[in-house]
Amino acid sequence: MTSAMDLPLVHSGKVRDIYGVSEDLLLMVTSDRISAFDVVMGEPIPDKGRVLTAMSAFWFDHFSDVVQGHLLATNPEEVASRLATHDTGLPTSWVGRTMLCRRAEMLPIECIVRGYITGSAWKEYTASGTMHGGRLPEGLLEASQLPEPVFTPSTKADEGHDVNISFEQAVDLVGRNLAEQSREVALECYLRGARWAAERGIIIADTKFEMGLIDGELVLADEVLTPDSSRFWPADTWTPGTTPPSFDKQPVRDYLDRLDWDKKPPPPLLPDEVISATSSRYVEAYERITGLSFSDWLGVR
Ligand SMILES: Nc1ncnc2c1ncn2[C@@H]1O[C@H](COP(=O)(O)OP(=O)(O)OP(=O)(O)O)[C@@H](O)[C@H]1O
Ligand SMILES: [Mg+2]
Repeated sequence: MTSAMDLPLVHSGKVRDIYGVSEDLLLMVTSDRISAFDVVMGEPIPDKGRVLTAMSAFWFDHFSDVVQGHLLATNPEEVASRLATHDTGLPTSWVGRTMLCRRAEMLPIECIVRGYITGSAWKEYTASGTMHGGRLPEGLLEASQLPEPVFTPSTKADEGHDVNISFEQAVDLVGRNLAEQSREVALECYLRGARWAAERGIIIADTKFEMGLIDGELVLADEVLTPDSSRFWPADTWTPGTTPPSFDKQPVRDYLDRLDWDKKPPPPLLPDEVISATSSRYVEAYERITGLSFSDWLGVR
């Protein structure tokens, strides 16, 4: 008997494992691994992968009138029935963290949208007054809200860091049509998602969408508006001029900041209180944004 776990592993990222189901289908399994300062911690954050999966599923549905999503199913029976492993079902540990997706031909750009200036964009602005080469008004503070959200694509590097590029460079990579279409979709999803989250006390400062083509049509893929693909800030503590705390990872970051750790592997051990506080933050983000109870999600005890 074969199990879903025997499917060929196509890709293993810091957080997710992707399995090939067929020429057209992929299985995306999101683990509880967490990275901080680009280093994956040794301890999992309970249910983090389920939170990210549930949140992405919520947004795919929320944006279905803007763009088609790659997500086909999260329900374990439905997923298993498409896998030819119907008799064994989905492994229990995978329930709630697995997305059956349509395989897309991914665009070689990351569709980043920034509503607030922070991170690498803030660094560029302080050095040259620009963001991805485009001029910005003077006098912005770190974490300021931008006059309007901006599409700031980057390359999708297989190794090393993604490189920020201008819109025209994105046009060179994917063609004008797709560059314009992906910009429009990314801005619309960001605007709607950020407005929705802001009404629920969470600032989505910026985010990265990934898009691809299926049968020649532009599709929203990967994960959508999760704390792993975006910067979530608690709205009540946002103060321009200072780096806002991360809604989800702050307990881990605060703990690591108190240690004398060089931010290189191996990571220090995370104490139980830090792990449970972080897990609660992820669940809180999900419940605030969706208005749903996380205990109703698949595989949650
Ligand atoms: N529907 C899809 N079809 C094909 N590829 C997809 C689809 N959705 C997402 N992908 C790709 O799957 C991969 C997901 O990888 P993942 O995010 O787990 O790791 P990573 O991006 O390599 O590293 P990191 O851990 O830093 O995010 C990405 O390369 C993404 O572009
Ligand atoms: Mg990724």
